[in-house]
Amino acid sequence: MQQRVALVTGGMGGLGEAICVKLAALGDKVVTTYSPSNSKAQDWLRKMNDMGYGFIGHPCDVTDFDSCKACVEYVTKEVGPVDVLVNNAGITRDMTFKKMTKADWDSVMHTNLDSVFNMTKQVMDGMVERKWGRVINIASVNAQKGAFGQTNYSAAKAGMHGFTKALALEVAKKGVTVNTISPGYIGTKMVMAIPHEVLESKILPQIPQSRLGKPEEVAGLVAYLASEEAAFVTGANISINGGQHMY
Ligand code: CAA
Repeated sequence: MQQRVALVTGGMGGLGEAICVKLAALGDKVVTTYSPSNSKAQDWLRKMNDMGYGFIGHPCDVTDFDSCKACVEYVTKEVGPVDVLVNNAGITRDMTFKKMTKADWDSVMHTNLDSVFNMTKQVMDGMVERKWGRVINIASVNAQKGAFGQTNYSAAKAGMHGFTKALALEVAKKGVTVNTISPGYIGTKMVMAIPHEVLESKILPQIPQSRLGKPEEVAGLVAYLASEEAAFVTGANISINGGQHMY
């Protein structure tokens, strides 16, 4: 196969960066989206490309269908058709349900779940036509087990896996796989934003390995699901959580 094009949403953050680095190391041409309001995007691209990764960055509001359409049109024209899509962009607005506003609910649903439709819709017909494709949705252990303060996030991330299973069925005969990865608590900015006391007293004790995961560990799993060897894995939800939740 010629060099694949991998598109990673939100690729400039903790997990996303590790995923971009891993896919590039395996020889993919990696494109990452970034939020149009991200003023540090060009600095990040310069820094990474000085290290030789050859990343392409493109602004995209993943909550907006037309922005995703324009982004994928750009990538297809300038780089090539997307072979691997990693739906990684996500946010938290953690608070107890009692305090949660409609805006807190909506922003998480739009960014974490609508984005999966908005992006996948742009690439799926092409993958089916070319009879090869990989869609990898980054969900969360908190979709599997629930999390205090995350009714919005747990619902959106659980929705991702429903999407994975239904679409995996529809494209199973077309050489396209669709899978979910459910990471536990990984050492990223998102997890570090949890109040220290909550992390220490409520979360770490739930993790049998007594540590946070590393972004590279999740990236390794993405690389596997994107590989040729993973052709028979579809509709799966693979946990990577240090033993925090098993089922
Ligand atoms: N389990 C059980 N009880 C908890 C709890 C928990 N995890 N967290 C807080 N509580 C309890 C507190 O002990 C407190 O109890 P009392 O009233 O009896 O004292 C009560 O709930 C209220 O707690 P707070 O005062 O902390 O409430 P708050 O509104 O200020 O904050 C919160 C609530 C925002 C949810 C805060 O607890 C928090 O940030 N928790 C972490 C949420 C979390 O895990 N987010 C994951 C982010 S990382 C991620 O999402 C990536 C991924 O995919 C894994």
